[in-house]
Amino acid sequence: DALEQQLDDLQGFQIIAHRGASGYAPEHTWFAYDKARDMGADYLELDLHMSADNQLVAIHDDTLERTTNGEGNVKDHTLEALKALDAGSWFNQAHPEYANDDYAGAKLLTLDEVIDRYGDSVRYYIETKSPDRYPELQRALVETLEAEGLVDAGAVVIQSFSQDSLKQIHELNADIPLVQLVWYSTAEDGDGLVEWTGVTPAPSEITDADFQAIADYAVGIGPNVTYEGQDVIDAGFVDQAHANGLLVHAYTINEPDAMQRLLDWGVDGMFTNFPDRLNSIAE
Ligand code: G3P
Ligand code: CA
Repeated sequence: DALEQQLDDLQGFQIIAHRGASGYAPEHTWFAYDKARDMGADYLELDLHMSADNQLVAIHDDTLERTTNGEGNVKDHTLEALKALDAGSWFNQAHPEYANDDYAGAKLLTLDEVIDRYGDSVRYYIETKSPDRYPELQRALVETLEAEGLVDAGAVVIQSFSQDSLKQIHELNADIPLVQLVWYSTAEDGDGLVEWTGVTPAPSEITDADFQAIADYAVGIGPNVTYEGQDVIDAGFVDQAHANGLLVHAYTINEPDAMQRLLDWGVDGMFTNFPDRLNSIAE
Protein backbone atom coordinates (compact mmCIF):
# COMPACT_ATOMS: atom_id res chain seq x y z
CA ASP A 1 0.00 0.00 0.00
CA ALA A 2 0.97 3.67 -0.08
CA LEU A 3 2.56 3.64 3.36
CA GLU A 4 4.67 0.59 2.52
CA GLN A 5 5.77 2.20 -0.74
CA GLN A 6 6.68 5.45 0.99
CA LEU A 7 8.58 3.58 3.70
CA ASP A 8 10.53 1.80 0.96
CA ASP A 9 11.31 5.14 -0.64
CA LEU A 10 12.37 6.58 2.72
CA GLN A 11 15.06 3.90 3.03
CA GLY A 12 17.07 5.88 0.48
CA PHE A 13 18.77 9.17 1.34
CA GLN A 14 16.40 12.16 1.54
CA ILE A 15 17.19 15.79 0.76
CA ILE A 16 14.75 17.90 2.75
CA ALA A 17 14.68 21.55 1.67
CA HIS A 18 14.38 23.44 4.96
CA ARG A 19 11.69 26.12 4.50
CA GLY A 20 12.43 25.65 0.77
CA ALA A 21 15.88 26.55 -0.53
CA SER A 22 15.86 29.17 2.20
CA GLY A 23 19.57 29.91 1.97
CA TYR A 24 18.98 31.43 -1.46
CA ALA A 25 15.52 33.00 -1.29
CA PRO A 26 12.98 34.12 1.33
CA GLU A 27 11.83 31.09 3.29
CA HIS A 28 8.34 29.69 2.65
CA THR A 29 7.76 31.70 -0.55
CA TRP A 30 7.40 30.51 -4.14
CA PHE A 31 10.96 31.61 -4.74
CA ALA A 32 12.38 29.30 -2.07
CA TYR A 33 10.10 26.38 -2.92
CA ASP A 34 10.69 26.61 -6.70
CA LYS A 35 14.43 26.65 -6.17
CA ALA A 36 14.21 23.65 -3.84
CA ARG A 37 12.31 21.64 -6.44
CA ASP A 38 14.70 22.73 -9.19
CA MET A 39 17.71 21.77 -7.03
CA GLY A 40 16.46 18.20 -6.72
CA ALA A 41 15.06 18.23 -3.20
CA ASP A 42 13.07 15.13 -2.33
CA TYR A 43 10.88 17.02 0.15
CA LEU A 44 9.78 20.60 0.65
CA GLU A 45 9.79 21.36 4.35
CA LEU A 46 6.83 23.45 5.54
CA ASP A 47 6.26 24.85 9.02
CA LEU A 48 2.54 25.37 9.57
CA HIS A 49 0.57 27.89 11.59
CA MET A 50 -3.13 28.80 11.48
CA SER A 51 -4.64 32.15 10.67
CA ALA A 52 -7.41 33.70 12.78
CA ASP A 53 -9.90 32.22 10.29
CA ASN A 54 -8.35 28.75 10.63
CA GLN A 55 -6.44 28.54 7.36
CA LEU A 56 -3.17 26.58 7.27
CA VAL A 57 -0.34 28.97 6.47
CA ALA A 58 3.33 28.17 5.81
CA ILE A 59 5.50 30.29 8.09
CA HIS A 60 8.08 29.35 10.70
CA ASP A 61 7.75 31.83 13.55
CA ASP A 62 4.69 32.35 15.75
CA THR A 63 5.06 36.03 15.00
CA LEU A 64 5.32 38.11 11.85
CA GLU A 65 8.18 40.47 12.58
CA ARG A 66 11.21 38.49 11.40
CA THR A 67 10.04 37.46 7.93
CA THR A 68 7.32 39.98 7.03
CA ASN A 69 6.47 43.65 7.36
CA GLY A 70 3.61 42.74 9.73
CA GLU A 71 3.44 42.70 13.50
CA GLY A 72 2.10 40.35 16.14
CA ASN A 73 1.01 36.73 16.14
CA VAL A 74 0.16 34.85 12.96
CA LYS A 75 -2.92 33.43 14.70
CA ASP A 76 -4.38 36.88 15.34
CA HIS A 77 -4.52 37.76 11.62
CA THR A 78 -7.02 36.65 9.00
CA LEU A 79 -5.71 35.04 5.85
CA GLU A 80 -6.63 38.19 3.93
CA ALA A 81 -4.49 40.29 6.26
CA LEU A 82 -1.60 37.81 6.05
CA LYS A 83 -1.82 37.82 2.26
CA ALA A 84 -1.35 41.60 2.23
CA LEU A 85 2.09 41.33 3.86
CA ASP A 86 5.51 41.48 2.19
CA ALA A 87 7.33 38.26 3.07
CA GLY A 88 10.33 38.84 0.80
CA SER A 89 11.98 42.20 1.38
CA TRP A 90 13.49 41.20 4.73
CA PHE A 91 15.59 38.59 2.92
CA ASN A 92 17.26 41.17 0.67
CA GLN A 93 18.37 43.11 3.72
CA ALA A 94 19.44 40.07 5.72
CA HIS A 95 21.22 38.32 2.81
CA PRO A 96 22.53 40.95 0.38
CA GLU A 97 24.69 38.34 -1.36
CA TYR A 98 21.55 36.61 -2.61
CA ALA A 99 19.27 39.67 -2.84
CA ASN A 100 16.89 39.85 -5.80
CA ASP A 101 14.45 42.69 -6.54
CA ASP A 102 11.83 40.11 -7.47
CA TYR A 103 11.70 38.94 -3.84
CA ALA A 104 10.23 42.24 -2.64
CA GLY A 105 6.51 41.76 -2.01
CA ALA A 106 6.62 37.95 -2.02
CA LYS A 107 3.46 36.54 -0.42
CA LEU A 108 2.84 34.15 2.42
CA LEU A 109 1.28 30.91 1.16
CA THR A 110 -1.39 28.53 2.33
CA LEU A 111 -0.83 24.79 2.34
CA ASP A 112 -3.57 24.51 -0.30
CA GLU A 113 -1.73 26.90 -2.62
CA VAL A 114 1.51 24.97 -2.24
CA ILE A 115 -0.15 21.64 -2.98
CA ASP A 116 -2.02 23.14 -5.96
CA ARG A 117 1.23 24.37 -7.47
CA TYR A 118 3.44 21.34 -7.01
CA GLY A 119 0.98 18.45 -6.84
CA ASP A 120 2.94 15.23 -6.76
CA SER A 121 6.04 16.69 -8.45
CA VAL A 122 7.59 16.95 -4.97
CA ARG A 123 6.88 15.50 -1.55
CA TYR A 124 5.92 17.50 1.53
CA TYR A 125 7.60 17.33 4.94
CA ILE A 126 5.19 19.21 7.17
CA GLU A 127 5.86 20.41 10.73
CA THR A 128 3.06 20.88 13.25
CA LYS A 129 3.24 22.84 16.48
CA SER A 130 1.81 21.88 19.83
CA PRO A 131 -1.95 21.19 19.76
CA ASP A 132 -2.25 23.55 22.74
CA ARG A 133 -1.62 26.40 20.37
CA TYR A 134 -3.77 25.21 17.45
CA PRO A 135 -6.27 22.59 18.62
CA GLU A 136 -7.81 22.44 15.13
CA LEU A 137 -4.59 22.08 13.19
CA GLN A 138 -4.15 18.31 13.23
CA ARG A 139 -7.62 17.54 11.90
CA ALA A 140 -7.51 20.33 9.30
CA LEU A 141 -4.13 19.13 8.08
CA VAL A 142 -5.07 15.46 7.79
CA GLU A 143 -8.34 16.35 6.02
CA THR A 144 -6.45 18.50 3.51
CA LEU A 145 -3.85 15.82 2.82
CA GLU A 146 -6.51 13.15 2.40
CA ALA A 147 -8.66 15.34 0.14
CA GLU A 148 -5.65 16.12 -2.06
CA GLY A 149 -4.75 12.44 -2.33
CA LEU A 150 -1.30 12.96 -0.84
CA VAL A 151 -1.59 10.23 1.76
CA ASP A 152 -2.58 7.68 -0.87
CA ALA A 153 0.20 8.99 -3.10
CA GLY A 154 2.73 8.48 -0.29
CA ALA A 155 3.89 12.05 -0.71
CA VAL A 156 3.93 13.39 2.82
CA VAL A 157 5.81 13.09 6.10
CA ILE A 158 4.62 14.90 9.21
CA GLN A 159 7.15 16.01 11.82
CA SER A 160 6.74 17.69 15.18
CA PHE A 161 8.51 18.39 18.44
CA SER A 162 5.09 17.76 19.99
CA GLN A 163 4.46 14.10 20.74
CA ASP A 164 0.81 15.02 21.39
CA SER A 165 0.47 16.41 17.91
CA LEU A 166 2.00 13.34 16.29
CA LYS A 167 -0.13 10.97 18.34
CA GLN A 168 -3.28 12.89 17.36
CA ILE A 169 -2.31 12.63 13.71
CA HIS A 170 -1.55 8.92 14.08
CA GLU A 171 -5.07 8.41 15.49
CA LEU A 172 -6.59 10.32 12.58
CA ASN A 173 -4.65 8.47 9.88
CA ALA A 174 -2.13 5.74 10.66
CA ASP A 175 -0.83 5.69 7.05
CA ILE A 176 1.06 8.98 7.38
CA PRO A 177 4.76 8.50 8.20
CA LEU A 178 5.67 10.55 11.27
CA VAL A 179 9.02 11.88 12.48
CA GLN A 180 9.57 12.87 16.09
CA LEU A 181 11.74 15.98 16.29
CA VAL A 182 14.05 16.36 19.28
CA TRP A 183 16.30 19.17 20.43
CA TYR A 184 19.47 18.45 22.38
CA SER A 185 21.41 21.23 24.06
CA THR A 186 24.37 21.22 26.38
CA ALA A 187 23.60 24.51 28.10
CA GLU A 188 24.33 25.21 31.74
CA ASP A 189 21.58 26.47 33.99
CA GLY A 190 21.65 27.06 37.75
CA ASP A 191 21.46 23.31 38.39
CA GLY A 192 24.26 22.34 36.03
CA LEU A 193 24.22 20.75 32.61
CA VAL A 194 20.86 20.70 30.83
CA GLU A 195 20.32 18.34 27.94
CA TRP A 196 16.73 19.16 27.21
CA THR A 197 14.85 17.26 24.58
CA GLY A 198 11.21 17.11 25.63
CA VAL A 199 10.62 13.52 24.47
CA THR A 200 13.77 11.48 25.09
CA PRO A 201 16.53 11.68 27.68
CA ALA A 202 19.86 13.16 26.61
CA PRO A 203 21.74 11.16 23.95
CA SER A 204 24.24 10.01 26.59
CA GLU A 205 21.38 8.39 28.54
CA ILE A 206 19.03 7.30 25.81
CA THR A 207 17.96 3.66 25.89
CA ASP A 208 16.47 1.23 23.41
CA ALA A 209 13.19 1.62 25.31
CA ASP A 210 13.23 5.36 24.61
CA PHE A 211 13.67 4.73 20.90
CA GLN A 212 11.00 2.02 20.98
CA ALA A 213 8.54 4.43 22.58
CA ILE A 214 8.96 6.68 19.53
CA ALA A 215 8.83 3.74 17.12
CA ASP A 216 5.31 3.02 18.44
CA TYR A 217 3.92 5.88 16.38
CA ALA A 218 6.78 7.28 14.26
CA VAL A 219 9.05 6.01 11.48
CA GLY A 220 11.92 8.28 12.39
CA ILE A 221 13.59 10.70 14.74
CA GLY A 222 14.77 14.19 13.74
CA PRO A 223 17.58 15.47 15.97
CA ASN A 224 19.62 18.65 15.83
CA VAL A 225 23.28 17.76 15.42
CA THR A 226 25.18 20.65 16.98
CA TYR A 227 24.61 23.05 19.81
CA GLU A 228 26.88 26.08 20.04
CA GLY A 229 29.33 24.48 17.66
CA GLN A 230 29.57 21.14 19.53
CA ASP A 231 28.10 17.85 18.43
CA VAL A 232 25.22 16.67 20.58
CA ILE A 233 24.78 13.32 18.79
CA ASP A 234 27.25 10.92 17.21
CA ALA A 235 27.42 7.89 14.94
CA GLY A 236 26.41 5.67 17.89
CA PHE A 237 23.12 7.57 18.22
CA VAL A 238 22.38 6.93 14.55
CA ASP A 239 23.25 3.23 14.91
CA GLN A 240 21.05 2.85 17.98
CA ALA A 241 18.11 4.56 16.28
CA HIS A 242 18.54 2.25 13.30
CA ALA A 243 18.77 -0.82 15.53
CA ASN A 244 15.39 0.21 16.92
CA GLY A 245 13.87 0.56 13.47
CA LEU A 246 13.92 4.35 13.29
CA LEU A 247 15.14 6.52 10.44
CA VAL A 248 17.32 9.51 11.35
CA HIS A 249 16.68 12.85 9.62
CA ALA A 250 19.11 15.43 11.01
CA TYR A 251 18.59 19.20 11.02
CA THR A 252 19.71 21.78 9.89
CA ILE A 253 22.89 21.01 7.94
CA ASN A 254 24.25 23.71 5.64
CA GLU A 255 28.02 23.21 5.36
CA PRO A 256 29.54 20.61 3.03
CA ASP A 257 31.91 19.25 5.70
CA ALA A 258 29.05 18.60 8.06
CA MET A 259 26.99 17.04 5.27
CA GLN A 260 29.79 14.60 4.51
CA ARG A 261 30.33 13.76 8.18
CA LEU A 262 26.66 12.95 8.64
CA LEU A 263 26.57 10.88 5.48
CA ASP A 264 29.49 8.92 6.95
CA TRP A 265 27.42 8.37 10.11
CA GLY A 266 24.71 6.88 7.92
CA VAL A 267 21.86 9.32 8.50
CA ASP A 268 18.85 8.77 6.26
CA GLY A 269 18.20 12.38 5.36
CA MET A 270 19.08 15.95 6.19
CA PHE A 271 17.23 19.22 6.40
CA THR A 272 19.23 21.91 4.62
CA ASN A 273 18.80 25.49 3.44
CA PHE A 274 21.09 24.63 0.49
CA PRO A 275 19.66 21.56 -1.25
CA ASP A 276 22.02 21.96 -4.22
CA ARG A 277 25.04 21.48 -1.95
CA LEU A 278 23.58 18.37 -0.40
CA ASN A 279 22.56 17.05 -3.80
CA SER A 280 26.09 17.31 -5.12
CA ILE A 281 27.59 15.66 -2.01
CA ALA A 282 25.01 12.91 -1.57
CA GLU A 283 25.33 11.62 -5.15
O1 G3P B 1 11.89 20.66 11.23
C1 G3P B 1 13.26 20.46 11.42
C2 G3P B 1 13.76 21.76 11.79
O2 G3P B 1 13.18 22.63 10.87
C3 G3P B 1 13.31 22.12 13.18
O3 G3P B 1 13.67 23.39 13.50
O4 G3P B 1 13.01 25.63 14.08
O5 G3P B 1 13.80 25.16 11.80
O6 G3P B 1 11.57 24.39 12.51
P1 G3P B 1 12.98 24.69 12.94
CA1 CA C 1 10.77 23.06 10.76
